[in-house]
Amino acid sequence: MSLRLLRRLLLVALLLVIVWTLFGPSGLGEELLSLSLSSMLPAPASPGPPLALPRLLIPNVEACRGPGAPPFLLILVCTAPENLHQRNVIRASWAKIREVRRLRVQTLFLLGEPIRLQPRDEHGLQSEAEAQGDILQAAFQDSYRNLTLKTLSGLNWANKHCPMARYILKTDDDVYVNVPELVSELVRRGGRWEQWERGTEPQSSAAVGDEEQEQRGQDLGSDPVPLLYLGRVHWRVYPSRTPGGRHQVSEEQWPGAWGPFPPYASGTGYVLSASAVQLILKVASRAPLLPLEDVFVGVSARRGGLTPTHCVKLAGATHYPLDRCCYGKFLLTSHKLDPWKMQQAWKLVDSPDGESTAPFCSWLQGVLGILRCRVIAWLDS
Ligand SMILES: *[C@@H]1O[C@H](CO)[C@@H](O)[C@H](O)[C@H]1NC(C)=O
Repeated sequence: MSLRLLRRLLLVALLLVIVWTLFGPSGLGEELLSLSLSSMLPAPASPGPPLALPRLLIPNVEACRGPGAPPFLLILVCTAPENLHQRNVIRASWAKIREVRRLRVQTLFLLGEPIRLQPRDEHGLQSEAEAQGDILQAAFQDSYRNLTLKTLSGLNWANKHCPMARYILKTDDDVYVNVPELVSELVRRGGRWEQWERGTEPQSSAAVGDEEQEQRGQDLGSDPVPLLYLGRVHWRVYPSRTPGGRHQVSEEQWPGAWGPFPPYASGTGYVLSASAVQLILKVASRAPLLPLEDVFVGVSARRGGLTPTHCVKLAGATHYPLDRCCYGKFLLTSHKLDPWKMQQAWKLVDSPDGESTAPFCSWLQGVLGILRCRVIAWLDS
């Protein structure tokens, strides 16, 4: 065998290893990136004064209570008052999942006030809130440029009225969320408690009484949640100065001399642990109030000394074509689904009446994993 051939083979092998580390199921690449990021962080800033946030019009303070354990995962979906159809499709699809591996999941919608207030609108929202019990409304104008206020109101609500929820997912109403796999991912990444939960699952699934359930709820509270800020991380993004653009950031808000934004997780879906939410709320009042909520959370996280962890399974701005294996197994979120597509995605993965169905992926699809999903998304775009 000639030396040249050998070199080529080595090169191909090296490339395969790189692709595998970055996109393969092990997540090794992400971990490496996150480690290197944390070494670049400045010392944490001191906490600012308490945030002055708009008052709540529909405070829904009971949403998180109720019998049994508090939520393991609280999903906050940013939506606009007029997007009733999107909310209903989410209610009838992935938000129907209220429990995964005996862990409670709760979904709530975050809204501001309709820009052109008609008495009828207000009434509609009020009765929707009463009927569904899943609405949180704060007193600010619901506009794209006010999304930071919306997110902060939601995080503040979670901290105040749902402090026992271990993880918060912030997402939007055009995002499909793979709730079972997201919970599994969090359990996998979690600390001692989640590991313990996983270890005991097979035995306990048969005979766990109410008492034990109760006990578990208390364990949840007593064991501190590790800091986690998980998402599709964007690195070295510079502010857009396009006048009138949706993403415009002025020179006052972010001076050019500050360079790019710190790494932040795409706003289409990121997870914060309860402790990370607390930390962000503490430093947020001192951070520049950027209109881009995901960048704002990234800036606050950096001020608090918290590093985002990259996860390829969270789609970011990518739309993935409907595919049972990707939606059922490898993706945790997918962006840009209109209500019709949301329904279709749910039909692909839903097993009616909990009957066992065929596995989501064939053997080959399983081996190719997220890489295959990314290729079909790329071909589709
Ligand atoms: C955000 O909401 C506040 C309070 O309702 C309002 O005064 C302001 O105009 C809104 N900002 C934008 C950019 O819509």
